[in-house]
Amino acid sequence: MNLKRVLASLLSVTVSLTSARNTTDIDAPQAAGRSAETCGDPADALPFYRLLAGTGEYLYVADPTTVGTELRAAPNGWALQTVAALVFSTQEVSTVPFYTLHSNTGSEWLYVANTTELANALNNGYHLSTEPVVYIYPTQICGSVPFYYLNNAAEKSNFYTAVESERLDFIANEGYTDVDIAGYVLPLGYSQCA
Ligand SMILES: *[C@@H]1O[C@H](CO)[C@@H](O)[C@H](O)[C@H]1NC(C)=O
Ligand SMILES: *[C@@H]1O[C@H](CO)[C@@H](O)[C@H](O)[C@H]1NC(C)=O
Repeated sequence: MNLKRVLASLLSVTVSLTSARNTTDIDAPQAAGRSAETCGDPADALPFYRLLAGTGEYLYVADPTTVGTELRAAPNGWALQTVAALVFSTQEVSTVPFYTLHSNTGSEWLYVANTTELANALNNGYHLSTEPVVYIYPTQICGSVPFYYLNNAAEKSNFYTAVESERLDFIANEGYTDVDIAGYVLPLGYSQCA
């Protein structure tokens, strides 16, 4: 074997080791578990828009077509306020449906991930709304944050926020009180590179 052939074969070994290492790097998070195998793909997460009715109820919608339809529903006077969080529009790993319910008698909207509470709500004056269901995490995993559920009993209005300062402001200045954590959403600043 001459030197050139030795070098050539060493080179080919090096190349295959390098590509093997690259492959290993890409697969490493999956082999390690949580991040790649038990979380939704953050690249699929969509803005969950918050709309406010002229009458004071809040509506949360991810589907852009539905946002447009609601905003054009002039008699309701919906205004687009902000993006409240990031959610999934299809069921990804470890996520659960976050149902949109509407009052049978009033006009408030209710958002429920817990199936026991869904059954309670359906038995207590709410029906499932026609907005497409979105999906969130039922526990705080995968970089998610609490989606706080607040209620203003006098206004018959439910409010949800992932922003702690907004939660405190609504309690201090808008007549809302904490009810629960509705589920866990990805915050707006979420970066899959983090
Ligand atoms: C493989 O990794 C090496 C160094 O880690 C890099 O120089 C090379 O561009 C990578 N190749 C591919 C196909 O990603
Ligand atoms: C769902 O709601 C019920 C009734 O409020 C509660 O007892 C239960 O702990 C909740 N489950 C989860 C996973 O939060």
